[in-house]
Amino acid sequence: MTDFSALDRHLQDNRQSHLEQLFELLRIPSISADSSKKAELEMAAKWVKDKLAAGGLHTELIPGDGPPLVYAETKAVPGQPVVLVYGHYDVQPADPLELWNTPPFEPVVRGGNIVARGSTDDKGQMLTHVQSVLAWLQVEKALPLQVKFLIEGQEENGSQVLQEKLAAIQSKLACDVIAISDSSQYAPGQPAITYGLRGIAYYEIRVHGPKADLHSGSFGGAVTNPGLALARILTEMKTPDGKIQLPGFYDSVVEIDESERAMWKGLNFSDEQFATQLGVSELTGEVGYSTLERRWARPTLDVHGLLGGYQGEGGKTIIPSWMGAKISFRLVPNQDPKQVTLQLQQFLSEHTPPGVRVELIDLHGGRGVMANPHSKFMQGAMQAVQEGFETKPVLIREGGSIPIVAQMVEATGADVLLLGWGLDDDGAHSPNEKFCLEDYYRGIRASTRLWHYLANRSS
Ligand code: BES
Ligand code: MN
Ligand code: MN
Repeated sequence: MTDFSALDRHLQDNRQSHLEQLFELLRIPSISADSSKKAELEMAAKWVKDKLAAGGLHTELIPGDGPPLVYAETKAVPGQPVVLVYGHYDVQPADPLELWNTPPFEPVVRGGNIVARGSTDDKGQMLTHVQSVLAWLQVEKALPLQVKFLIEGQEENGSQVLQEKLAAIQSKLACDVIAISDSSQYAPGQPAITYGLRGIAYYEIRVHGPKADLHSGSFGGAVTNPGLALARILTEMKTPDGKIQLPGFYDSVVEIDESERAMWKGLNFSDEQFATQLGVSELTGEVGYSTLERRWARPTLDVHGLLGGYQGEGGKTIIPSWMGAKISFRLVPNQDPKQVTLQLQQFLSEHTPPGVRVELIDLHGGRGVMANPHSKFMQGAMQAVQEGFETKPVLIREGGSIPIVAQMVEATGADVLLLGWGLDDDGAHSPNEKFCLEDYYRGIRASTRLWHYLANRSS
């Protein structure tokens, strides 16, 4: 049993300061989807860089065509594995603002939670690793292995910069294992290690009809309505049984392992409670699969927004010139978003009603991620999480996506550890996003253990 008492004392003494530092970062509205927030994104990048530099790490800001990447590293430790921590300092837009109980960029602690946009996704979670590395450097003067940080500012909006820089920073990325805290525990009081994330393929579809809006009385019945054409296309894309109708869509889908099914059946999960939590009358999805299987390991299609036509007050009788939809497919191993684009193109060419034209805009995508749940790093991570959260973690997959991770894994050949400190009901991307204050501290504590248990202690 290793002695963490000096580190723990340091963490205890710095609880207030660790919270204040997170508040500082949360006050910066670093919204990557908002082109007017360029300065704020740069400010957040600089904040993270300065924090790491002040702790004694070698740091760099890597500029690109968008928010800069923050890179940092501690000293190399020969004979020991290299860990790369990935995270993101950008956040989702905060609207609708009127649904927030306190302003999104004025963090507060309420009911044991840190409430602010980015608290759980991902500033709070990401900062746990920064704080633990700084604690090691202060208390122990060195880490038992080399830790590198790559913190980007565009995760919520396509990771363009990182994608473009991936080849150029290959040597910086070189590592044995990638550690990421940007997901969730299984439930309150039940930490988890995630070994699978879904991929995503995101699009906008526009259905174009008449060259201008038409009076629907004079012209209705004589032309195809783009809204109805769009609705038909969307409903034909997924059957009521939850099967996606793109040609060849399921060809590369890896079926769920029987052992995984058995393991997930052992997790405590109630469909009724989940439906109540979400405020729906019942759960629906692909037939033949449980709710956890549908969310973690089966592909799906969702509509995120409908565009065009009359959206104002009262009635306006038009046949809109065009209408559109934002849609995405969640993908599972081994589906490839590029392949899905081709399949979608073919589907659209076969399902476009006469009299309209369909335009497909490919917004972004990324493959799913699978980690080896039995790797030696996983054993070390299990131990670290168990000590940090004082409960043995369970192994889960998650439905969300961190699109760049598959490419990082491919580029480095490293294992990946998805150590989520959040909770399902944190409201990521939603109003009143929160992060449990104690989970912030437990995350920092687990992270201090992580460096120790990932190091090779046999020598
Ligand atoms: N942190 C999430 C990903 C996540 C969410 C992982 C829940 C596990 C559980 C990340 O910031 C995110 O929101 N990703 C987006 C990607 C999209 C913007 C391309 C997602 O999953 O929708
Ligand atoms: Mn995130
Ligand atoms: Mn997110």
